[in-house]
Amino acid sequence: MKKTEQLYEGKAKKVYATDTEDVYLVEYKDDATAFNGLKKGTIGGKGIINNKMSNHLFQILEKAGVPTHYVKELSDRETAVKKVEIVPLEVIVRNVAAGSFSKKLGIAEGTKLLVPTLEFSYKNDDLGDPMINDYYAIAIGAATRAEIDRISELAFRINDVLCAYFAERGIDLIDFKVEFGRFHGEIILADEISPDTCRLWDSGTHEKLDKDRFRRDLGKVEDAYQEVSKRLGL
Ligand code: TMP
Ligand code: ASP
Repeated sequence: MKKTEQLYEGKAKKVYATDTEDVYLVEYKDDATAFNGLKKGTIGGKGIINNKMSNHLFQILEKAGVPTHYVKELSDRETAVKKVEIVPLEVIVRNVAAGSFSKKLGIAEGTKLLVPTLEFSYKNDDLGDPMINDYYAIAIGAATRAEIDRISELAFRINDVLCAYFAERGIDLIDFKVEFGRFHGEIILADEISPDTCRLWDSGTHEKLDKDRFRRDLGKVEDAYQEVSKRLGL
């Protein structure tokens, strides 16, 4: 399979068309941004780790009954994926208070939530990805009720699978963001799952092993990505 024209360049990935029907190629970059692109930098080797980690987790999730866009890893930074139409929602699941949740509600980071929670942001950079609810999403045509229900069911299933998987590797899954796409009428998991899109804390020390080290200038950013990669045996 060969890549043809570049279709899109995002903050952390490029997407290419290919010579194979229904297949796109994604290429993971080392570029990192935060605060809607206001803060820019690079994290050496990140693209390779995020590519391998997403592919590894997507295969585990497939086995647990979560359909994904994963097709085949082509190289260190490149993966063939199903050509989906992205549902313009960031779907965030939280187990422990952190980040915008803590700020908004005045609940200290690290406070365990009584039950996992789910929220949606409308994917729109000009608006800064505003938080919306299911009724908004349906009213603006971002998704149908049936799609929202399926996305919610899959998001919580992903959380169950990943919490158990990371726990076995000494990592607490604090929260994460996922995106879904439409593929031949079905909702499937798309985009990536990586330290860019999850909060991952060491279970013992609570040390941050994710992109918050970059967002908050905590140092040892590359080391954190490497540590996660090592614990996952990638
Ligand atoms: P938040 O606490 O800043 O709302 O972030 C919640 C989770 O979503 C966290 O794991 C980081 C992830 N995230 C993204 O993947 N992309 C984003 O643009 C933002 C703001 C958060
Ligand atoms: N990648 C996002 C941006 O640049 C935000 C983040 O991950 O914090 O806006």
